[in-house]
Amino acid sequence: MAYSDIYAAWQADPEGFWMEQAKAIDWDRAPTRALSDEAAPIYEWFADGLTNTCWNAVDRHVAAGRGDQTAIIYDSPLTHTQHAITFAELQTRVASLAGALRAKGIEKGDRVIIYMPMVPEALEAMLACARLGAIHSVVFGGFAAHELAVRIDDATPKAIIAASCGLEPGRVVHYKPLLDNAIAQAAHKPDFCVIFQREQEVAHLEEGRDYDWHGFQYGVAPADCVPVEGNHPAYILYTSGTTGQPKGVVRHTGGHLVALHWSMKNIYNVDPGDVFWAASDVGWVVGHSYICYGPLIHGNTTVVFEGKPVGTPDAGTFWRVIRDHKVRVLFTAPTAFRAIKRDDPQGTLIGNYDLGSLKALFLAGERADPATIEWAQAKLGVPVIDHWWQTETGWAIAANPLGIEELPVKIGSPSVAMPGYDVQILDEAGHPMPAGELGAIAVKLPLPPGTLPTLWNAEPRFRKSYLTTFPGYYETGDAGMKDADGYLYIMARTDDVINVAGHRLSTGAMEEVLASHPDVAECAVIGVSDDLKGQLPLGLLCLNKGATRPAAEVVADCVKLVRDQIGPVAAFKLACVVERLPKTRSGKILRATMVKIADGQEFKMPATIDDPAILDEIAVALKGLGYPAA
Ligand code: COA
Ligand code: AMP
Repeated sequence: MAYSDIYAAWQADPEGFWMEQAKAIDWDRAPTRALSDEAAPIYEWFADGLTNTCWNAVDRHVAAGRGDQTAIIYDSPLTHTQHAITFAELQTRVASLAGALRAKGIEKGDRVIIYMPMVPEALEAMLACARLGAIHSVVFGGFAAHELAVRIDDATPKAIIAASCGLEPGRVVHYKPLLDNAIAQAAHKPDFCVIFQREQEVAHLEEGRDYDWHGFQYGVAPADCVPVEGNHPAYILYTSGTTGQPKGVVRHTGGHLVALHWSMKNIYNVDPGDVFWAASDVGWVVGHSYICYGPLIHGNTTVVFEGKPVGTPDAGTFWRVIRDHKVRVLFTAPTAFRAIKRDDPQGTLIGNYDLGSLKALFLAGERADPATIEWAQAKLGVPVIDHWWQTETGWAIAANPLGIEELPVKIGSPSVAMPGYDVQILDEAGHPMPAGELGAIAVKLPLPPGTLPTLWNAEPRFRKSYLTTFPGYYETGDAGMKDADGYLYIMARTDDVINVAGHRLSTGAMEEVLASHPDVAECAVIGVSDDLKGQLPLGLLCLNKGATRPAAEVVADCVKLVRDQIGPVAAFKLACVVERLPKTRSGKILRATMVKIADGQEFKMPATIDDPAILDEIAVALKGLGYPAA
């Protein structure tokens, strides 16, 4: 069948379409219906089914006789380690970990925070929670203690599973002190912590609270899979919104299983047994969906890569991993390819490796710039597929579904809407826009299985953030357009979210941190264009009257403050002091205009600007920081 037939089949009978896909999942009790719409516009999928995510990702493959197949390949250029874990081994390890968690009181519905680097134990911790019906919340290792504390207070976990350390090129990330500090800051205290001690740094364990990963499993009975309802939360994943309080995206069990399973063949075109590699991190949604759950649910081998595209040791690492493990599909962020291209513009290192196994490259997480796509196409000789999605949706809203048919690639577009998504471009009043015109991108409700049903403990915020601006639609927060063939073009965010090296960050959250500096009276953070990372945050600071410390010192403090409060991943290094910020007459800071100045773009003087002269001052300050770049 062609893509258009499949999309039409979904449109004709959405529930029938998803009930059919649900047959690929093992249910303890099959759902009798797909969609629950009684509480519309809040929807749920497969609510009356009973199933278990870990069973579907692990045990069922063993039961089907595929226990000897490799489930996880760990490849770490940072520790010079490679090893493989079969599905049978994974089952034993996860059942043991789950048994130990259960023995300490973890039950269905309890929250467990996971704070771990790219090691297989991170996936095992996620799966062990799923096995018990516990709700995990993985926190990315590049966040600082304060961000972890905010998540501890919101998710109120009974336990935290962490590693002793993470590894970044040239430095050890001291996870355990970060964890201790976060627990000290948080009002909520977990009952206990489980620490996976890595040989690169063995952490001090606090008597009575912290348990060693191996020691606490000793002599404990392994746990079986606990069936949970289709609408039982599988996990919470926090993502950046407009403020310092992150949004706890909830994922329900049934829809997650069904949608991810569908996506593996239909979008990525892999068959069970094929090696799938998402070069991301378990702390992001890509890591949840396509390092851990999607490949395992579908019976693929997944690669857990602890390294960087460049510098570990060179720009040939990705090709080495593809060759060593016969990777069929690679999924990463465009920034990784920009980094490789910068170090090895001719792609010379590619010639050192046999990449015969590679059939496609998928890119997501940020806008894929044409130069990067064209370079990858030319150097790899496989389809390079841009696809668009968000933490909220958990899987692609728009893609080129290679397993259905390879549609013509239009560079600059993540192609077309996937079944389940009725994507519309709306004007400010919520009316659909004609083809080719720019507007807000919205998805007609209900969203498909696998997407967020709500925000953790924050349904009013869920409604306000996503459902209120355009009644009957989910507001994506992205702006763009659709062409006459239905291809989407994602142009910009409509909110304060910026995308730095494929990492989603909130400028609002950074402003909150800067405003806490005693000398800062007012500030603005904008996202400026960057050749490598796509965007970089840049802070403009107005100091209090009477502040005596030199501007350079305040700037240095502020850079440190953001690193300490949000984390190194914020990549906040650009800031300067200005006299005044440009505003409208009603006092709204003109951030978008400042972005245009920094990027060297033409801009229209905002009609409501209070004092146009301030823009000249800002231009001088930005010039001082090197923007616009020459
Ligand atoms: N734990 C601790 N610190 C981390 C971290 C982690 N898991 N991940 C990143 N950091 C730190 C980095 O060490 C860096 O610190 P520094 O300021 O001391 O140098 C900082 O956070 C910024 O990281 P990043 O923006 O990733 O820059 P980088 O210079 O380390 O690497 C790239 C640049 C392009 C190589 C890198 O961003 C990359 O591989 N990106 C791939 C994109 C990706 O995986 N996106 C996920 C969504 S799909
Ligand atoms: P995250 O929730 O971290 O996955 O970030 C989601 C946001 O990243 C989206 O709302 C977009 O702004 C951006 N994004 C993701 N994929 C793409 C893409 N293929 N093209 C353009 N922007 C993208």
